[in-house]
Amino acid sequence: MAESMVGLKRTHRCTEVSSANVGEKVTVMGWVQKRRNLGALIFVDLRDRSGLLQILFDENVIGKEGFDKAYTLRNEFVIAVEGTVNKRSGAVNENLKTGDIEVIAESLRILSESETPPFPIEENIPTKEDIRLKYRCLDLRRPDIQSNIIMRSQVATLTRAFLANEGFLEIETPMLTKSTPEGARDYLVPSRVHPGKFYALPQSPQLFKQMLMCSGYDRYMQIARCFRDEDLRADRQPEFTQIDMELSFVDVDDVIDVNERLLAHLFKEVLNVDVQLPIQRMTWQEAMDRFGSDKPDLRFGMELHDVSEIVKNCGFSVFTSALENGGSVRGINAKGQGSMPRKKIDALVDFAKGYGAKGLAYICINEDGTYKSSFAKFMTDEEMDALVKSLDGEKGDLLLFAADRNKIVWNVLGALRVELADKMGLLDKNDYKFLWVTEFPQFEWSDEEERWVAMHHPFTMPMDEDLDKLESDPGAVRAKAYDIVLNGTEIGGGSVRIHQADIQSRMFKALGLTEETANEKFGFLLDAFKYGVPPHAGLAYGLDRLVMLMAKRDSIRDVIAFPKVKDASCLLTNAPDVVDEKQLKELSIDIAKEETEEKSEEN
Ligand code: AMO
Ligand code: AMP
Repeated sequence: MAESMVGLKRTHRCTEVSSANVGEKVTVMGWVQKRRNLGALIFVDLRDRSGLLQILFDENVIGKEGFDKAYTLRNEFVIAVEGTVNKRSGAVNENLKTGDIEVIAESLRILSESETPPFPIEENIPTKEDIRLKYRCLDLRRPDIQSNIIMRSQVATLTRAFLANEGFLEIETPMLTKSTPEGARDYLVPSRVHPGKFYALPQSPQLFKQMLMCSGYDRYMQIARCFRDEDLRADRQPEFTQIDMELSFVDVDDVIDVNERLLAHLFKEVLNVDVQLPIQRMTWQEAMDRFGSDKPDLRFGMELHDVSEIVKNCGFSVFTSALENGGSVRGINAKGQGSMPRKKIDALVDFAKGYGAKGLAYICINEDGTYKSSFAKFMTDEEMDALVKSLDGEKGDLLLFAADRNKIVWNVLGALRVELADKMGLLDKNDYKFLWVTEFPQFEWSDEEERWVAMHHPFTMPMDEDLDKLESDPGAVRAKAYDIVLNGTEIGGGSVRIHQADIQSRMFKALGLTEETANEKFGFLLDAFKYGVPPHAGLAYGLDRLVMLMAKRDSIRDVIAFPKVKDASCLLTNAPDVVDEKQLKELSIDIAKEETEEKSEEN
């Protein structure tokens, strides 16, 4: 039977009670973690957000009725206990903050009962994630998830305070808006008042924050919800949160400076980790050449080496034809992996194929110095030795080579490098390696759209020295764009923006946008730019990703209270869901019935 808490007031959270309170009366409330009966004594571990506290029910103290009631307690019952704090009579539990004390209960109320939960409310349970997400309310009670969510709140609070102190104003921007140019698909919201018209949920506050700079707010920040309809991964959700900021009258170094101090502050306060400042910087080109990635993980080496020169005249047509087609041949050295069995090497080849490789060539350096290789028969001994030398190959090493267009070679070896490091146990979650990646290409060529598209977004300023290549050689233009990378994850990115109308219109032209389309899409920003716009720049972090790494988790789902799963649905609420005919009618929406029926038959 559920009792009320009328007349009771909680005095402490569970772990706020300590040996300093011995002899005092306290009132604590929370969930039953565990009940143990020891004849005339019942022990209950009481849990709340702060942790556990042992309650002792002794019939001689609480009386028969209270003792009988304690006997009915089950896991996850919510109770209130009044009692006196006592030094533990039994063994001290070193693992508990309250391990040296207990509360001897004088009264007990059962505030609510609980059915048996579908999984234990404990750390590191083997329960499948979809069950945990279906019962997320219970999952969120588990201490490891709870500490992630608490850490997230802490990071948000510290960020707000830090940035406020640096002169940033927190300003909200709309959720119901027009499409923003971050490049993913939009989530659309139909308008009832304007039949056939749709709002788009923001992919980021990009255009609004730039307008706030035009409006003279100087420094803006927001912990902003963003929506992107893209394929989900461990570090991607359809709705996610940015720590978003924009600053006026600044250049790259100013943005980097305030953000380095912010990161150092967060890591010190939350994890007591000292971030060495300044954070290392690397150009995009160097990152690709050395690590095959624009978000290199610097916790380990295994750098890429370009061996094109060595193999350009060799007899292995896989290599030479890649070079003839303008590509390259590059390799990495997996130290000490030379005795990897054939099966595992084949698995690496398949892994590489998943990243677009046509194959993967390898050399195992045996302990006697001879080579086992998939392509030695096409090579001279000198060429083989030169390959081994250029990758610093030693006895017991495994050398892996990819030949293709640069983009594919980078992609394949960049991914392989991380995969191998993971298998080799080189990814220490307690080691935090930050990196700024700078000088991104302004554009990348889209085969699909057959035009140059913005690598960051169309408002990013080209580097001053590359401005004159905007028309003549777009592929060579570098941008004043920067990403902040932590342990191989892009935790944030930003750029200096274009604030000159003439450069902006050249940019649109380079992107194949007519003046008309540009006006239709971003006219409101371009208009704002007509009335005095300060030079400005900004950056946005993925808060979820940042907290994921700080909490040493592999998925952002573990740091989001109510995340969605791979197909973008919510297992807790069953969203997205069908709606009433009436609702659809009001919105002037007609569902194409045949297609949905076909789809549901397929499923
Ligand atoms: P960008 O698109 O790089 O930049 O996004 C900034 C950061 O947001 C995080 N992020 C995501 N996190 C989880 N799920 C997603 N689907 C997702 N997409 C992005 C990443 C990324 O670094 N307006 C610009 C910023 C600017 O120029 O100031 C922007 O949104 O950590
Ligand atoms: P093949 O002649 O296709 O049997 O390939 C011989 C070896 O070269 C095999 O080990 C392939 O995995 C490897 N290989 C094939 N294509 C590539 C490529 N593009 N880059 C590197 N190695 C390759």
